[in-house]
Amino acid sequence: MRDVYIIGVGMTKFGELWDKSLRDLFVEASLQAIENADVDHIQSMYVGAMSAGLFVGQEHIASLLSDYLGNEGIPATHVESACASGGIAVRQGYIEVASGISDIVLAGGVEKMNDGADVTFALATASDQEYEAFHGVTFPGLYAMIARAHMEKYGTTREQLAEVAVKNHEHGLKNPNAQFQMAISRDTVMKSTMVADPLRLLDCSPVTDGAAAVIICSEDVAKKSGRPLVKLRASSQATDYLALHSRKDLASLPSVARAAKKAYKDADTKPEDIDVFEVHDCFTIAELVVIEELGIVERGKSGAAVEAGITRLGGKIPVNTSGGLKSKGHPVGATGTAQIIEIVEQLRGDAGDRQVTDARLGLAQNMGGSGGSCVIHILEGIS
Ligand code: COA
Repeated sequence: MRDVYIIGVGMTKFGELWDKSLRDLFVEASLQAIENADVDHIQSMYVGAMSAGLFVGQEHIASLLSDYLGNEGIPATHVESACASGGIAVRQGYIEVASGISDIVLAGGVEKMNDGADVTFALATASDQEYEAFHGVTFPGLYAMIARAHMEKYGTTREQLAEVAVKNHEHGLKNPNAQFQMAISRDTVMKSTMVADPLRLLDCSPVTDGAAAVIICSEDVAKKSGRPLVKLRASSQATDYLALHSRKDLASLPSVARAAKKAYKDADTKPEDIDVFEVHDCFTIAELVVIEELGIVERGKSGAAVEAGITRLGGKIPVNTSGGLKSKGHPVGATGTAQIIEIVEQLRGDAGDRQVTDARLGLAQNMGGSGGSCVIHILEGIS
């Protein structure tokens, strides 16, 4: 396998973008990435999107988007794994470059969720239709069950869940691309509208439009480009039972542990070596369980760790410096790619007010649905 690098990144602002269509968003992010990489062509592209068909009535999007990007003729592939689509699109690009098939690949993600579709219905199609969605449970409900199990088993408190949202909004305030650039207090979270007990409005990631793209390339191309070098040290992927009822322990997310084990092994590294993490906080409880599965904190101790400020910017282990899905927004197909972009910017020293001092190694963890799929990338900034 060849070494693989990221030399260009681009993303749109995340939010309710009424004046931009799905194709506008993807083209905007992709052109930024191409310009940022300073390349004059790409050999193929991967597009992560959860359900353009249900959100905007458009399928066959890889072909459409290669056309609108001015690259008609190249191989273009749509990648779907619910909210993990954008991360897995990058992994497909990684595999194509590592294998030697191509030298320069564009990978990204897009979702246009605010154009009038029944968003809750569309999102729920990523759960088990026969055993979950049919009975009326949607994603806030599924994560509420995970939260209850974690609270029961480890004594995690309602206040600790709120602290995740408070921290991520504090980070998002420093991110010009974030959907919600506002600070919130623990009290505001605790008093926000109940969505699925114990999860309230401010425990949830929002409904978002947006796109993100990266340029992935071989070592040769990276070194000749003159761009800052960020190496993809590992790219791993795992699955789990789709439906919660099939899992042994509702307070865990085994797909994350599986992907993490492989990523740490392939990168020849361990959690303590990583300087900055982007994790999939689609609901506050998700961030708590994920940081346990990644080995950042001991199992059952994530609530206390967040409350102690360990995972804040300036803390020992900064998590979700971008604002996470909670504050930056969650255009489901684009999220995984945007997480990787935050890590690249951190490793390049380009993260502005969100910069983690001397960041050299970063990890991005992206998952689909309630953890039925997970993809993890470990990246290294080479000075
Ligand atoms: N965080 C912060 N503010 C939010 C928000 C969120 N997650 N969701 C909505 N808001 C704000 C809106 O901006 C709006 O503010 P305004 O009145 O000042 O304009 C207000 O809250 C009401 O918004 P509305 O769009 O009516 O909310 P809603 O009740 O339709 O949707 C949720 C709220 C939580 C149900 C929705 O955001 C949701 O489904 N989130 C989860 C998405 C999801 O499941 N993703 C996949 C994960 S696996």
